[in-house]
Formats: sequence, C-alpha cells, structure tokens
Amino acid sequence: MIVRAETAADHADIRRINDEAFGETIEGELVDAIRASDRFVLELSLVAESQGQSLGHVISSYVDVEPGGRRVLQVGPLAVVPSHQRRGIGSALMEETIRRADERGEPLLLIEGNPRYYERFGFTRTDALGIEPPPQALGPEYFMIRPLARYDPAFRGRAVYPPETFGIVY
Ligand SMILES: CC(C)(COP(=O)(O)OP(=O)(O)OC[C@H]1O[C@@H](n2cnc3c(N)ncnc32)[C@H](O)[C@@H]1OP(=O)(O)O)[C@@H](O)C(=O)NCCC(=O)NCCS
Repeated sequence: MIVRAETAADHADIRRINDEAFGETIEGELVDAIRASDRFVLELSLVAESQGQSLGHVISSYVDVEPGGRRVLQVGPLAVVPSHQRRGIGSALMEETIRRADERGEPLLLIEGNPRYYERFGFTRTDALGIEPPPQALGPEYFMIRPLARYDPAFRGRAVYPPETFGIVY
C-alpha cells in the first residue's frame, strides 16, 4: 500500500470513499468544500492506494484560533472503505499526515472525533492545553490536539470553524 497526495484524477474516488465510509454525503461535501477554499493544503490530502485501488483518504485544512485569527491545521474527514477497514489503512493515513505536518513546521494538529481511536496517535483533549473547542464540536472530549515539534504551550485561544468549510456541516 502507498500513501500519496491526491491529484485531479482522484476527486471522484475520494468522494466515493467518503460516501461509502460514512454512509452519508456530508463528509464528501466537506472534502469538496475544503478543496475549493483557501484552507486547503494539497500535500495533506492523502490517498491510500493498493494495487491501483484507492481505499482510503484523509484531508487537513486550516481553521482559525481566536483572538488573533491564527490559522492551524485540523485533520478530517478520515475515511476508509468499509471492505478494507481494520487493516491499518486509517493508521497509515494518520501517521503520514503527522509526518508531513511536522515536516512543514506546523505546530500542532486539531481533530474532532472519537478519542478511543485518535488517542493512539497522540491526540488529547484541547481544553487541557488551553484551546477551547468550537461551539459546534460534539463535546470537549471529542475535540483533540496533537502537538508537533514546533508546538508552543503558550499558544492558547478559541478554535473557530470557517463558514466555508466545517461551517457547512452544522
Ligand atoms: C475510523 C476509520 C478511519 C479507521 O480506519 P481503519 O483503517 O479501519 O483503522 P485501522 O485499521 O488503522 O485501526 C483499526 C483500529 O481502529 C479501531 N477503530 C476503527 N474505527 C473506530 C471508531 N469509529 N471508533 C473507535 N475505534 C475505531 C478499531 O477498533 C481498531 O482498533 P484495534 O486495532 O485496537 O482493534 C475507518 O474505520 C472509517 O472510515 N470509519 C468510518 C468513517 C469514520 O468514522 N471516520 C472517522 C471520523 S472521526
């Protein structure tokens, strides 16, 4: 299996992967909205491919932290086709995201999701590190941070979802 950045030829496959994994279309719509926005980072829209088949996808995009309007990366959606879940594809996508974000010099990653899954990658609650979740987040235990090498503990504030990306979900 390889993990690589998306190309224009992947757009339809990425949409299918998200629709199948989530059993609804909103996450796929979110991916398309992120790609159309200035929050998108091409090298962090990653496809997992095996024997020419695209089996998983993850995207990261910039959200705001107020006050100050600083932009930090949030991971998600992360999706693996149902027929190939629990074989390490989600983990490979997440580990490559962490590696690439670190290499870019990003200070941290945010994510909204199930702590039982994301804790294994070093994500912990943001509120314990002084970052308040956006009001739309499911609850403080579901809004997590993964500090990277350039993380500064003095970085604090309130995460805000851009209306043009995560805002379309709520
Ligand atoms: C969540 C998801 C991306 C994980 O990808 P994956 O390739 O199946 O995961 P991996 O094989 O790397 O890891 C499997 C581990 O994740 C756990 N896991 C899988 N889905 C989980 C979930 N929704 N919640 C908690 N744990 C989960 C499994 O129990 C397994 O743990 P174990 O190895 O200790 O038994 C994938 O199952 C998926 O696309 N699910 C539907 C969409 C979704 O919920 N995305 C995440 C949104 S926050």
